[in-house]
Amino acid sequence: MLTGNQIRKEFIEFFKNKSHKHFESASLIPDDPTLLLTVAGMVPFKPYFLGQKEAPYPRVTTYQKCIRTNDLENVGRTARHHTFFEMLGNFSFGDYFKEEAIAWSWEFVTEVLKLDKDKLWVSVFTTDDEAEQIWIDKCKFPKERIVRLGEDENWWAAGPTGSCGPCSEIHVDLGPSYGGDENSKLGDEGTDNRFIEIWNLVFTEWNRKEDGSLEPLPKKNIDTGAGLERIAAMVQGKSNNFETDLLFPLVEEAGRLTNSKYGDNQDVNFSLKVITDHSRAVTFLINDGVIPSNEGRGYVLRRILRRAVRHGRLLGQSELFLYKMVDKVVSMMGEAYPDLKKNIEHIKKVVKIEEEKFSRTLDQGIQLVNQEIEKAKKEGQNKLSGDVTFKLYDTYGFPYELTEEICGENGVEVSKEEFEAKMEEQKEKARSAREVIMEKGQDSFIEEFYDKNGTTEFVGYESSEEKARLLNIRESKDGKLLMIFDKTPFYAEAGGQTSDHGTIKGNGFEGRVIDVQKQKGIYVHTVEVVAGNAKEQEEYTLEIDRAIRAAITKNHSATHLLHKALREVLGEHVQQAGSYVNAQRLRFDFNHYEAMTEEQLDRVEDLVNEKIAQALEVDIRNMSMDEAKKEGAMALFGDKYGSVVRVVKVGDFSIELCGGTHIDNIGKIGLFKIESESGIAAGVRRIEAVTGTQAYKFVKQIENNLKTIAKTVKSDLTNVVDRVERLNETLRENSKEIETLKAKVTSYEAKSLNDDAEEINGVKVVAKTFKDKNAEELRQMVDSLKEKLGSCVVILGSGEDKAIFAVGVTKDLIGKVKAGVLVKEAAQVAGGNGGGRPDFAQAGGKDADKVEEAVAKAKEVLKTLL
Ligand code: ALA
Repeated sequence: MLTGNQIRKEFIEFFKNKSHKHFESASLIPDDPTLLLTVAGMVPFKPYFLGQKEAPYPRVTTYQKCIRTNDLENVGRTARHHTFFEMLGNFSFGDYFKEEAIAWSWEFVTEVLKLDKDKLWVSVFTTDDEAEQIWIDKCKFPKERIVRLGEDENWWAAGPTGSCGPCSEIHVDLGPSYGGDENSKLGDEGTDNRFIEIWNLVFTEWNRKEDGSLEPLPKKNIDTGAGLERIAAMVQGKSNNFETDLLFPLVEEAGRLTNSKYGDNQDVNFSLKVITDHSRAVTFLINDGVIPSNEGRGYVLRRILRRAVRHGRLLGQSELFLYKMVDKVVSMMGEAYPDLKKNIEHIKKVVKIEEEKFSRTLDQGIQLVNQEIEKAKKEGQNKLSGDVTFKLYDTYGFPYELTEEICGENGVEVSKEEFEAKMEEQKEKARSAREVIMEKGQDSFIEEFYDKNGTTEFVGYESSEEKARLLNIRESKDGKLLMIFDKTPFYAEAGGQTSDHGTIKGNGFEGRVIDVQKQKGIYVHTVEVVAGNAKEQEEYTLEIDRAIRAAITKNHSATHLLHKALREVLGEHVQQAGSYVNAQRLRFDFNHYEAMTEEQLDRVEDLVNEKIAQALEVDIRNMSMDEAKKEGAMALFGDKYGSVVRVVKVGDFSIELCGGTHIDNIGKIGLFKIESESGIAAGVRRIEAVTGTQAYKFVKQIENNLKTIAKTVKSDLTNVVDRVERLNETLRENSKEIETLKAKVTSYEAKSLNDDAEEINGVKVVAKTFKDKNAEELRQMVDSLKEKLGSCVVILGSGEDKAIFAVGVTKDLIGKVKAGVLVKEAAQVAGGNGGGRPDFAQAGGKDADKVEEAVAKAKEVLKTLL
């Protein structure tokens, strides 16, 4: 019997033998701004299907890691839902079509997987006679087990628009115990759990346009997808994917870590399956550079991770456990996905940090639920509304099941329907944010322009000034010109590098270029007119601002040095998470789980400057992806396939794939200074730095500040640190001395206050105001007076910025007068309020100048009480 790992290998080998090129699995983060995650094997190949790019090989095969979250709530409940799964696929880009795709799938299923032919069913699209005939003629497949299904089942589209086509699917019949009866057919109602789809063959030959109409693609293509987990289940005779060797060891590990056992009951199985599935998704997402957050992919990760932790709690595990699953995932999948092993420590740390955070949320949530219960009870209610249970879930991330459980213990009702209604509302809102494969609404002007003129030739790597023909001129909404030329030396904003600035001159026209963007390889210059008019088809001189370009270029080259230095100092887990360079500074975001120490920052800065001082040469070459990998290039956001890549090498120190502009020798950067390091999301840090002249200015500014400090403390630059330290020491000593003196004065004043005591109706009373006593000093005086006088009432006030009062009443008198009452009287006069114990109370007010009046008022009140 084939293991899951063997099936993966056999599949790739099978198609390699049929002249397919094996591509490694692409990143879960697609190289496609319209897509959140890689949701199918074909995602990395979209441009080839649409004919936007030439495919480097006509036949390709992959096992592709995928994530789908549109049915998250079902994952764990069923035998076959997953967030993370692997899709086996073979692809033809304008090469073979239906006949080979069908025949080969049949050969693989029957001869390699050796599935029982009599249990297989096939579906084809309603009108696809051709596919049906191929199944019958080429595969000798019995006609009675071929069914025709409609758009819902047998038409596969990459989204509302874009490439699509009819498909044919292979299914395995698990038999009547899974639904239907002896005579049931594939597609009959109630047989969803019985007929298991294992392979989808898509005949991608159409492009769906915005208006819904179909136009033929330039070439006919094949896109197939077979879920590895399902195939393993069928081959291994399991009715549940989680019981295959691809997943069961994880189920057992989840059981071990949560002290529970698969098979005990449905609830336990549910939770263990959730943890199993989610631990794979979490491991792979973090491996590909995603970090938990409240947006986009980060939010997908957070939701999945938290759902797994919650199921741990449902199993009674309140300690951290999920991060420990990572070891098992990596040991099982590290061979097929080697980079997991490299990143394992980083992955575990990120999981652990988020797990800890969520555990705290859960603890807080429990308090919140209790407060809500109390509030409801006070209001005479015996129920938490859907608004409240949903708020707990949505705002505080507190699972509904736990709310329900705690309410149950307190005899308070909750309504699942109300909660779900609120969820539904929320989902409705979120639907548009989900990962649907969608072609971005392409600018139709650009489309047409591209069809007519192709792309702009970029000559800016070599040249900073160029004569070019103006092909199109339009006016932007805000009155600027949008100009397109046949070629340009202007770098368009890309890869985190800001666009060039400069001028366009000729034929009496002059304009300033303030931005350049590229779409579909077409460079659009945004231009402010200085003089004259420009005309299409005429020649102009395009010249970039060399000083600005030089500054940008230095900053860009410096980010490569910084990236490498961070990896050396912090570890190989450091990956670029984003960057931005302009003429002023550079910004570099990277994955790291904690703030960097001063020492680490110093080491990074030292290392970068060391390399600058070595004046390493920068070598830029175009080569194939395979060559680049052999050289050890760091690819960003997963590998792009086949095509030629641009490799930027700085001596032997750093090598990266990059399309940006760079200096020829790193020595020209001159100086590199880190301005700041900060956290921008859990596990993502940001460094801002400056180079060249800006770095010099930065250092100069620091020096000037230092000079000012030196002057202020009457020292010079060499001795300023010593001087400040000594001043600080003196300051500390002086403060101590002041404290001692103040205490002395206070006790002296307290003594003299004895003499101020007057008698009112036989009770000793001290009422006095000061200018500059703090609350503690007033309290000391009250205590000391009470002790000295034995039986008395003391009312003290002080006011500098605001009024403060302290009132003391000895125990024998609290029957008659309470300190809290008097202090309140006083404080109210000074625009405040307060109270306290009967024997001692303090209060404050905002009107410092009313202290005397306030104390007098308290004394008046006292008189009436004695
Ligand atoms: N792209 C097809 C699918 O995802 C094969 O089912």
